[in-house]
Amino acid sequence: MNGKNMNNGQNALFCQKLTKAFGGLEAVKDVDFRVTHGERRAIIGPNGAGKTTFFSLINGQHPVTSGSIELLGQDVTKLPAHKRAALGLGRTFQITNLFPTQTVIDNLVISAMGLMGTKFSMLKPLSSYRPLYSKAEEALKSVGLLERDSVLIKNLSYGEQRQVEIAMALISRPKVLLLDEPTAGLSPAESHMMSEIIKGLDPSITILIIEHDMDVALSVADYITVLHEGRVFMEGSADEVRGNTRVQEIYFGEE
Ligand SMILES: Nc1ncnc2c1ncn2[C@@H]1O[C@H](COP(=O)(O)OP(=O)(O)O)[C@@H](O)[C@H]1O
Ligand SMILES: [Mg+2]
Repeated sequence: MNGKNMNNGQNALFCQKLTKAFGGLEAVKDVDFRVTHGERRAIIGPNGAGKTTFFSLINGQHPVTSGSIELLGQDVTKLPAHKRAALGLGRTFQITNLFPTQTVIDNLVISAMGLMGTKFSMLKPLSSYRPLYSKAEEALKSVGLLERDSVLIKNLSYGEQRQVEIAMALISRPKVLLLDEPTAGLSPAESHMMSEIIKGLDPSITILIIEHDMDVALSVADYITVLHEGRVFMEGSADEVRGNTRVQEIYFGEE
């Protein structure tokens, strides 16, 4: 590795020539990508651009075809997903993982137990679970749902369930958080609420957000990466991306 390509520790995430092929289809191709500590970066691009696949490479859900990934200064290219999570990589869970007939707080505690390998035991005093409850409450507070802690999941609105997803990802106190379309399916008011929640998260958390809604992407992130056909099409500030006619063609052309 020459000096120019070295991470030097200032990047939370550093990908070089990242490529993922599914058979003959290169879903992600030669992606060079770096995000500094505490940055909030939006990744946008038309459907099928390779955004979700890019996240799956970062979190280890898919092995790379070629290229490398450095997370928080460590080469994780060959590490399994759970080891990347242990290093501080968080991602949102699908709401299908929630237990609809349990309360919000119990869902978070159950999730925290899973993360820490704790098993519920009738022989343990209930107080031994107290640290889990305070972690869960802290996460709920971050997404503005603390007063909904004892509501059953099935009685939450769809927007609130998406907020619980974020809270679940926060329980492990991630240093780098991947959010794949957190506003998908939300009403304009719920989307607005979600972007306010994301903007209000601990500023030391590095956040990568895939976002189809350009207004949300531009309000949450200072810097944007545009993917198109698996490649980085352009990177720039919100204004640069908005003002680029070629981005408008590829991005809005589909709609
Ligand atoms: N597991 C998979 N197997 C085969 N092809 C896939 C798989 N996942 C994604 N693809 C293909 O890779 C391309 C990029 O998909 P994806 O990363 O989901 O795009 P985006 O999230 O930007 O909409 C698409 O053509 C998609 O059909
Ligand atoms: Mg996607």
